[in-house]
Amino acid sequence: MNTHPATPETIAEGARILRAGGLVAFPTETVYGLGADATQPDAVARIFEAKGRPTFNPLIVHLGSADWITEIANPDDRFHKLAQAFWPGPLSLVLKQANGSPIAQLATAGLESIAVRCPMGVIANALLNASGRPLAAPSANRSGAISPTHADHVAESLGNKVDLILDGGPCSIGLESTVLDLTTAEAVILRPGAITPEQINAVIGAVTMAASTEHTPKSPGQMLSHYAPTLPLRLNATTVAPREAYLGFGPTAGATLNLSEGGDLSEAATNLFAMLRSLDDPRRFIAIAAAPVPETGLGIAINDRLRRAAFQ
Ligand code: TXA
Ligand code: MG
Repeated sequence: MNTHPATPETIAEGARILRAGGLVAFPTETVYGLGADATQPDAVARIFEAKGRPTFNPLIVHLGSADWITEIANPDDRFHKLAQAFWPGPLSLVLKQANGSPIAQLATAGLESIAVRCPMGVIANALLNASGRPLAAPSANRSGAISPTHADHVAESLGNKVDLILDGGPCSIGLESTVLDLTTAEAVILRPGAITPEQINAVIGAVTMAASTEHTPKSPGQMLSHYAPTLPLRLNATTVAPREAYLGFGPTAGATLNLSEGGDLSEAATNLFAMLRSLDDPRRFIAIAAAPVPETGLGIAINDRLRRAAFQ
C-alpha cells in the first residue's frame, strides 16, 4: 500500500519523491491532485502516462505563494488583485508564460499560456514549501473519469502508478477550481468552480463565461464528455424509474442518496463526486437519475459537472 496519512514525516518523504522526479498524490481544498515537479520533463511525462491523459491537455501548476509567479509568467494588475483576494484558494489563473520559464513544455502542452494556482489546503501548502518546486497537478484520476475527493478514490483509480498517496481525509470543496483566462482583454471563465463570476466581477470588473462545446481549443478540460460515470446519467429528474439510482437534492422522495437534504449547495458540492462514484454500480442499477440543482452560485459549477457526467 502506498497510501499514508499526511504527517510532517510523510510530507517530507513526499517532497523527496517529488524532487527525485516521482509522483505524489495530495489533497487540496478542491480535489486530490496528482503532483510532479513541473520543471522536470520526465516527471511531468509520468503524470500523462499514469492518467492516460492526452498530451494536448495542459496541467495546472501549483505554487506555494503568489511570489513564485516571478520567472514563470507575466502577471498583470488583474492577477495581483485576484491573487490578493482569493489565494490561497480554488481559483486557477491562465497567464502568458514568461520568457525562459523553467516549466516543462509538456506541462503546458506547448501553449504560450500557463494556468497557475495556490491551493488552500495545509497539506498541499506544506508539500509545496517542503519540495520548493512548482507542482504540476491535475486531478488524481484516470483521464475522463470522476475526480477524487477521498484518498481511497485515488488508490482505486491510479493505485500503484503513484509513488505516494498522502491521505488528508475528504476535500472540503469537492469541485475542481474555477479556471479564469487572463490572456485576453476581457477575462473569461473556462471552467466554473467555487469562486463565482460575481466574486470575480467584484474584484476586476467584467468577466464572461466560455461557451461549453465539445472541443474548446482554449481549454481541453472543457470537453463535454468528462467526469463521466460508467452508467448513463439523466438530469433534472423529478421521478425515478425502476432500477435507477436517484441522486436527490433538497427534499427528494425516494432518493437513493441525497447531495443535501437541506438544499445547501456547498454541502452538495462536497458530496457530488463521492456520491456519483458510489451510485455508479452496474450490479445494482441500470442508470442514475439526478434531481434538479438550482443554477445559482455554486450550483453553476455543480450543474456544469453533472452535464459533463451526463454527456455520452
Ligand atoms: O482544483 C483543481 O484545479 C485541481 C486540483 C488538483 O488543484 N486540478 C485540476 O486539474 O482540476 P485538471 O488537470 O484536472 O484540470 C485542469 C484544467 C483543464 O480543464 C485544462 O484544460 C485547463 O485547466 N488548463 C490548464 N492549463 C491551461 C491553459 N494554459 N489554458 C487554458 N486552460 C488550461
Ligand atoms: Mg481533471
